[in-house]
Amino acid sequence: MLRLGVLVSGGGTNLQAIMDAIERGDIPDTKISVVVSSKEGAKALTRAKKVKIPTEVVNKEHYGDVDAFDAALVRTLQTYSVDLVIMAGFMSILGPLFVRNFEGRIMNIHPALIPSFCGEGFYGIKVHKKVLKSGVKVTGATVHFVTEEVDAGPIILQKPVMVQPFDTPEMLQQRVMEHAEWQIYPQAIKLYAEGRLQVEGNIVKIKQQ
Ligand code: GRF
Repeated sequence: MLRLGVLVSGGGTNLQAIMDAIERGDIPDTKISVVVSSKEGAKALTRAKKVKIPTEVVNKEHYGDVDAFDAALVRTLQTYSVDLVIMAGFMSILGPLFVRNFEGRIMNIHPALIPSFCGEGFYGIKVHKKVLKSGVKVTGATVHFVTEEVDAGPIILQKPVMVQPFDTPEMLQQRVMEHAEWQIYPQAIKLYAEGRLQVEGNIVKIKQQ
């Protein structure tokens, strides 16, 4: 059984997509063992509680420095015997201590096609504002393994989304979530659960079924 620890901070729509995929039987032998939020009252916590998934809050403000916060997160996830960490709208940067503890077992979703529109300051609606300002015609979403460098780990899956002429940032964000994020995140976890992801340097190879 693959045990997931999902890190959230906000709406939890990616968490919901993963919960629904597991419920439908799309992801074999996998369960969400815990949902950990960096903020009290996140809607993502409500989504987890509704289906009786254990929840925890690890609030960065309660810890003096990044290492203390990382250590608290590691301890919490180890309490639930988490095998794979899923960052889903998690708004805190994970430090080197955390990444080293879960080396190769942390995924993140980014609402753009890495290496475009990523790195420091590129998160949430800000990404879509910069996409629209740049005039590109195609954007999308990326699922990648997390390394110590922000948004730079080996890319697992990507999905393109067309930018429409009259898009507002909110319209574009919704389309990227619906047509890309909520599709490729469950797919990436399924591939991991099936043991089909092979990382060679910065390249992820998907082994045939
Ligand atoms: C989404 O744009 C996602 O790409 C980013 O955080 C935003 C909110 O995600 N990682 P969620 O609704 O909390 O899953």
